[in-house]
Amino acid sequence: MKIAIGSDHVGLELKPAIINYLKELGHEVEDFGPYTDKRTDYPIYSKLVSEKVVAGEYERGILICGTGIGISIAANKVRGIRAVACSEPYSAKLSREHNNTNILAFGSRVVGSELAKMIVKEWLEAKFEEGRHLNRVNMIGDIECEYIKE
Ligand code: RB5
Repeated sequence: MKIAIGSDHVGLELKPAIINYLKELGHEVEDFGPYTDKRTDYPIYSKLVSEKVVAGEYERGILICGTGIGISIAANKVRGIRAVACSEPYSAKLSREHNNTNILAFGSRVVGSELAKMIVKEWLEAKFEEGRHLNRVNMIGDIECEYIKE
């Protein structure tokens, strides 16, 4: 899979371990920054990664900030993004199976690297079940169409 990854200065701490892990799993990873620990703002990287995912250049995105919250909220403002902030593997898996999430977010202040890797693995391996969930995901798209104007 082609995966776009981004963080803020806090999430940067965990990012190298996740990039290495993704490569070990055989994925192609592009890091959209930041590349230094200078204080920055997470919405910049949410937007960069989200735009790559909705453009179809990358199949999935991974975002890391302190909690996973701000960076996922910002990503969810991009039309077509369904981002989930997760701190355990069960929700990560269900977010794929039921909600067809295309961005995973977590917090470097919340999870350690081993737990983060488990979350990433479950999320990457789980498949969207479609069926009754498809209509609900389409309903999310309808809300976007209603409220997000070009
Ligand atoms: C940065 O201090 C922190 O607010 C950010 O990393 C993130 O946790 C926001 O949701």
